[in-house]
Amino acid sequence: MSATITADDGVLVRAPGKINLRLRVGPARADGYHPLATVFQAVSLFEEVRAETADRISVTVTGRGADRVSATKDNLAHRAARLLAEATGTSEGADLHITKEVPVAGGMGGGSADAAATLVACDRLWGTGLDREELGRLAGELGADVPFALTGQTALGRGRGDELTPAMARGRYSWVLALNQEGLSTQEVFAALDAAGAVPPNRRVRVPPSMIKALLSPDPARLAPYLVNDLAEAAVRLRPRIDEVLQAFRHTEALAAIVSGSGPTVAGLARDRSAAMSIAGELRAADVADEVLVVHGPVPGARVVEQFRATR
Ligand code: C5P
Repeated sequence: MSATITADDGVLVRAPGKINLRLRVGPARADGYHPLATVFQAVSLFEEVRAETADRISVTVTGRGADRVSATKDNLAHRAARLLAEATGTSEGADLHITKEVPVAGGMGGGSADAAATLVACDRLWGTGLDREELGRLAGELGADVPFALTGQTALGRGRGDELTPAMARGRYSWVLALNQEGLSTQEVFAALDAAGAVPPNRRVRVPPSMIKALLSPDPARLAPYLVNDLAEAAVRLRPRIDEVLQAFRHTEALAAIVSGSGPTVAGLARDRSAAMSIAGELRAADVADEVLVVHGPVPGARVVEQFRATR
């Protein structure tokens, strides 16, 4: 594979979805965002963005839930390409083809992964040569979860969730994901949390150092007690079915189960992959979710997996 590419080439980039292992939420700031203390983990459910040179920027979408994604200028991938073009002064375009695995509006950062993958793909395609730090700054302008989709692995998130510190994780965690097709809007879930008056105005949020230590252990049972999500109650209020999924996990050997981000996806932590497979079977039998998957984490962030000659 050649390191230099010509205008005729295309690029394929993969970026992962995420689970928030812990998500503590502070009172809304003046800009409407909530200060977070979170631990992200990237998991093996990937968005793919295939970018080919073109005169303009365009987006097409296939894969899981694609019919519920707008392929217009509002698409976060479209915005990401425009932002990179603007920031670097390039007049190039790109045909962006997204293949989705991460559930749409599922609380797993699928749109953010599309944006991160697009930044990496267009930077390579256009030869704009930004370093990871510069890409991270653009990512933060696109959304709170986009910087993490760039870096992947396991990381602490502060501020809006976009101020990242990598965390060492020794374990390879097996997760059972219970997906629901009807997504939840992140903004609505945060608004429901505020409406319930659930966040005391003086609350300071932090990740306990003992959790960072637990991540250093290869034993997932050490991590289980730290899985907490302050958005869970608000998500359940908007979508009571989420509670049925959490209950169903309680009847399995899952070490813990949490709502992922703003939901509705629920993630159950398993002792190992074989336990995850049997938990997934029980969840499917309980018929509380539209789809049940087994994934693992941590995995890397957005990266080029292939460069190819354009088909046109
Ligand atoms: O940054 P992003 O567009 O992904 O966030 C979606 C919405 O979620 C925001 O408009 C805001 O309402 C809410 N949010 C928040 N606090 C955060 C992250 C997101 O209130 N830290």
